[in-house]
Amino acid sequence: MDASNKKRSTAKAAMEFIKPGMTVGIGTGSTVNFLIEMLPEIRKKINRIVSSSKASTSLLEMHGFTVSNLNEVGEYDIYIDGADESNNKLQLIKGGGGALTREKILACAAHKFICIIDDTKLVETLGNFPLPIEILPMAKGIISRYILKMNGQPVWREGFITDNGNHIVDIHGLQISNPLEMEASINSIPGVVTVGIFANQAADILLVGDDNGVKEIRN
Ligand code: A5P
Repeated sequence: MDASNKKRSTAKAAMEFIKPGMTVGIGTGSTVNFLIEMLPEIRKKINRIVSSSKASTSLLEMHGFTVSNLNEVGEYDIYIDGADESNNKLQLIKGGGGALTREKILACAAHKFICIIDDTKLVETLGNFPLPIEILPMAKGIISRYILKMNGQPVWREGFITDNGNHIVDIHGLQISNPLEMEASINSIPGVVTVGIFANQAADILLVGDDNGVKEIRN
C-alpha cells in the first residue's frame, strides 16, 4: 500500500472516534486533509469544529463547515492530528507543516488526542525527523547558540512565516532519548514559542496505517 492510501485509511479509522454531539479539533497536514475530505459524511454528528491552522480552516470552510474560536469552545471532546514521528510511548515530533503551536494548544484543550500516522513514522527514538521550533524572529541568534551547544544543527526555514507571524528553525542531528526533558529544556530558552516535541502532551491513541490495515496503540 502506498503512503497516501495508508494515510487515507488511518484518517477513515479516526472518524469512528467521533460520536454524535462531539466538538472536534482538526490538525494540519496531508493526513488530516484526507480526514477533512471525508468529514462531510458525518456532518450531522459534529457539534462544533476548531482548527489548528489557516490552511485547515480554509479546507474545512470549502467543505461547508463553520470553524469556531477555541476561546468560545473551551475544553472540548476530541483532537485528531497527524505527526512527523511517534515513539512507542506516543510521544511525538510535530511541526513539519509549521502549525505546531496551535496544534499543541488544541491537543491540550481536548479530552482525547488521536494521532494518525503511517507506519514509516513509528520510531524507536525521536529525532531522525528534524525537530521544528517556532521562535520569535529577534531571538534567532541566542537560539542558534543554544542549539549548537546541544550538538544540534539549526536550519532556518527560509521564507516561512507561521500563522502567528513567527519563524521556524528545524534542528537536525538530535537523538531525543528523553523527550520530556528536552521539551522542557528547549521551551525554557527565551524567544522560543513552542518546540515540536509533544511529550508532556503525548497522544492518547495512535492509529498507524500499514500494509495490513490500521493498528491502534493506546497510552
Ligand atoms: C503540521 O504542523 C504537522 O505537525 C503535521 O501534523 C505533521 O507534519 C504531519 O503531516 P503529514 O500528515 O502531512 O505527514
